[in-house]
This record gives sequence, structure tokens and C-alpha cells, in this order.
Amino acid sequence: MNAKRPSESLIVMTELVLPNDTNLFDNLMGGRLMYWMDIAAALSGSKHCGAPVVTASVDNISFTNPIKLGNVVHIQAKVTRAFNTSMEIYLKVWGEDILQQYKYPSNEAYYTFVALDPHGKPRAVPKIEPETPEETELYEGALRRRQLRLILGGKMKPGDASELKALFMNVRDDKQGI
Ligand SMILES: CC(C)(COP(=O)(O)OP(=O)(O)OC[C@H]1O[C@@H](n2cnc3c(N)ncnc32)[C@H](O)[C@@H]1OP(=O)(O)O)[C@@H](O)C(=O)NCCC(=O)NCCS
Repeated sequence: MNAKRPSESLIVMTELVLPNDTNLFDNLMGGRLMYWMDIAAALSGSKHCGAPVVTASVDNISFTNPIKLGNVVHIQAKVTRAFNTSMEIYLKVWGEDILQQYKYPSNEAYYTFVALDPHGKPRAVPKIEPETPEETELYEGALRRRQLRLILGGKMKPGDASELKALFMNVRDDKQGI
């Protein structure tokens, strides 16, 4: 299976915040945004591996700025790293006030998707070869984020998370001036 570039999995989704998408404060509901993000991430994962995918996990999402009724939502999704059957997808979300002509960041998140074969079993996915400095940073961090989410999901023993442990050891060594 040939490796692919992150840019080959890029998905850009645009939505308009309508009254049915908002809460009592005329802001986009978090659940509606996560639904759109899930679709954008699934399309990105499927584009990377050419197979149907399912959401395995979603990392923590915090909402920096609310997106107002009548504003536009931009969601960008790209695969950061592929493992055996799973892929990490990085999403960035912005709001845009088209009338006042400005854009503002809303949130970012990491989703993990697993590719399935026709029997609904996990199947292998192509590797990722990052190109830009940002893609390389995301690629390198993906291993630690994967270890953390597998520990939290009860799928990995903390003792086996060597890259994650190394990060904490480096922080301790920095503090001690080693
Ligand atoms: C995700 C799912 C396919 C994993 O299947 P599984 O039988 O547990 O398979 P495995 O343990 O072999 O794991 C398969 C891959 O999923 C990854 N995975 C499993 N649980 C995970 C989690 N909580 N977070 C991140 N990745 C996870 C594994 O690391 C593995 O990746 P790898 O092959 O790249 O190493 C299965 O649990 C499932 O179908 N879940 C429901 C998916 C769904 O319906 N999503 C919509 C939510 S409403």
C-alpha cells in the first residue's frame, strides 16, 4: 500500500448557522457542530484509505468562541497520521461573519477513525508521509496522543506508552536542569 500525503485527505466543509442549529442565546449548539465535524473527519479518513470508516474516539473539544446565528462555519479536516487500521484526523473550525467581513477561530479537535472491510472488521490503511513543518509536528505528536487515548480507553497499559512517558521524563529533566 503506497503512503499518501496529508493534503490528499483534505476536506473543507462550509455550513450556514440557521435558527434550528442554535441555542437560546442564538449561538450554534455544540452538538450540531460536533455532528458536522464528525462528517468532515469521516470524509477525510475515507478519502485517505478509500474505505468506509467509523468513529473510534474523539479527544476533548473546547469551544473558544461561539458561532452566531447567520454566521458561516468553516471546518477543515486532514489525516495527521495513520497507524495499522486507524487514522488520526485533525480538525480546525472557524466562524465567519460575512456581512461584517471577519473570520474568527472557534475550536480544534482530534478524531480517530477505523477503516472497515466488507465484513465490518478493521482493515489496514495506507501510511502518511508529512510534507510541511506543521504536518510533521502533527505527525510526531500523533503517537503520544494515540497512547494517551488508548490508555484512557482501557486499550493500553500506561507502562507500554514509551513515547508518552518520555515526554513527561523530559519535562521533569528540564525542571531539574538536567
Ligand atoms: C472502533 C472499532 C472498529 C474498534 O474495533 P476493535 O474490535 O476494538 O478492534 P481493535 O481493538 O483491533 O482496534 C482496531 C483499531 O482501533 C483502534 N482503537 C480502538 N479503540 C480505540 C479508542 N478508544 N481510541 C482510539 N483508537 C481506538 C485501535 O488502536 C486499533 O487501531 P490500529 O489498528 O491502528 O492499531 C469498534 O470498537 C467499533 O466498531 N466501535 C463502534 C464504532 C461506531 O459505531 N462509531 C460511531 C459511534 S456512535
